[in-house]
Amino acid sequence: AIKVATIGGGSGYTPELVQGFLDRYDDMPVKELWLVDVPAGEEKLAIIGAMAKRMVARAHRPLKIITTLDRRAALKDADFVTTQFRVGQLPARVNDENIPLKYGLVGQETNGAGELMMALRSIPVLLAIVKEMTELCPDAWLINFANPAGMMAEAVTHYTGWKKVIGLCNGPDNIQRDIVNALQTTREHVDTAFIGLNHLVFAKHIYLDGVDVTRHVIDLVTTEHQRVDNPGVGNWDRDFLQSLGVVPISYLQYYWKTKQVVAEEARAASHEGSRAVVAQRLEHQLFDLYRDPQLNTVPPELKKRGGSGYSQASCNLIYGLYADRRDIQTVNVPNNGACLDLAPDAVMELNCVITSHGPMPLTVGHLPVAAAGIVREMKAFEQVGCEAAVTGDYATALKALTINPLVHSDVDARPLLNELLLANEAYLPQF
Ligand code: G6P
Ligand code: MN
Repeated sequence: AIKVATIGGGSGYTPELVQGFLDRYDDMPVKELWLVDVPAGEEKLAIIGAMAKRMVARAHRPLKIITTLDRRAALKDADFVTTQFRVGQLPARVNDENIPLKYGLVGQETNGAGELMMALRSIPVLLAIVKEMTELCPDAWLINFANPAGMMAEAVTHYTGWKKVIGLCNGPDNIQRDIVNALQTTREHVDTAFIGLNHLVFAKHIYLDGVDVTRHVIDLVTTEHQRVDNPGVGNWDRDFLQSLGVVPISYLQYYWKTKQVVAEEARAASHEGSRAVVAQRLEHQLFDLYRDPQLNTVPPELKKRGGSGYSQASCNLIYGLYADRRDIQTVNVPNNGACLDLAPDAVMELNCVITSHGPMPLTVGHLPVAAAGIVREMKAFEQVGCEAAVTGDYATALKALTINPLVHSDVDARPLLNELLLANEAYLPQF
């Protein structure tokens, strides 16, 4: 019998996870799903819990849903702990996006100053969960989706002795979907070697039925008629991408189209609102649907959120670990020498064979020089940012912000950090 504890269970994404467990029940009998949240999320948790129970009733599977504010009770003897919490919920994200923008800098939840602030709020909570797991479920796997997912996995790896941690994102699946669409084929014909960091990953090699089609895919995703259909990859100059030779995740736009992104964010902020504001609107609509006592399936409206489809990645991973599937999945773990551009203990997003004893990274060698630079620079930022989150040291936070390629100014970093720290006061006990 499998027990899963989901921290941040009141999230609007949870019904997807419930559906994933129900769909796989015969292969992977999750008997108990504990949904945990904090008092500020109690109302959402109740709505999600009721919705989950309706989904279970519809599927006729003996999956028990337990909602609770008692994290320790949920962790007790869990086999898998999934974390999807958002400290400060979406209002904190509004600050992460809008404050940097006032300085003419990118405002985004997992890039630039926003990424640092989200890490400062979230890492201490994740480390506290790990501490409780050591006592309450020492053999469990910790699967983290909570952003910034790369920094979160890096922090657990470097600041705790916990080995069974895996960072997860739906980004690689999104890129894969774009590639499959571009090639007009189906998923099982395509094999993609991913390497990089979370939200900073590249498809280094793409094979179609065993033939290397990387350059052909680059051509397809950058030709005019394909341009609107690559949300996972983004739109790139054709000569640039051909020369780069690898396919980036669309998040690279923040680094390689910075000026245009800032201009677009500024426009959006004064019209429909920043992404966090839009996400809040979507969340309200979604919870209005979830409140409906008739609703017992995941509504299509969830597709409007960027994380939709994440349950696919999480259920695949849990199934792979549980059943020792030894299939290949893209996850965030120490690269262990798989990538020659970073130290072996640096957490990276890369292809791994998923076994019951954990993910085994597949070697990819080097990234092209032109892509390795940003990966190294961002890993340095992540590591310094993790240190700031753990120590609460102001100068370390200032250092992290200054070396971030989306800030790159000690002059801007100080007032920006001061303003962000003030706005986040309630969520940063370590500072
Ligand atoms: C992508 C990322 C997630 C992120 C989401 C944001 O799916 O992989 O890590 O949370 O986008 O979507 P949102 O709807 O909140 O802007
Ligand atoms: Mn992600």
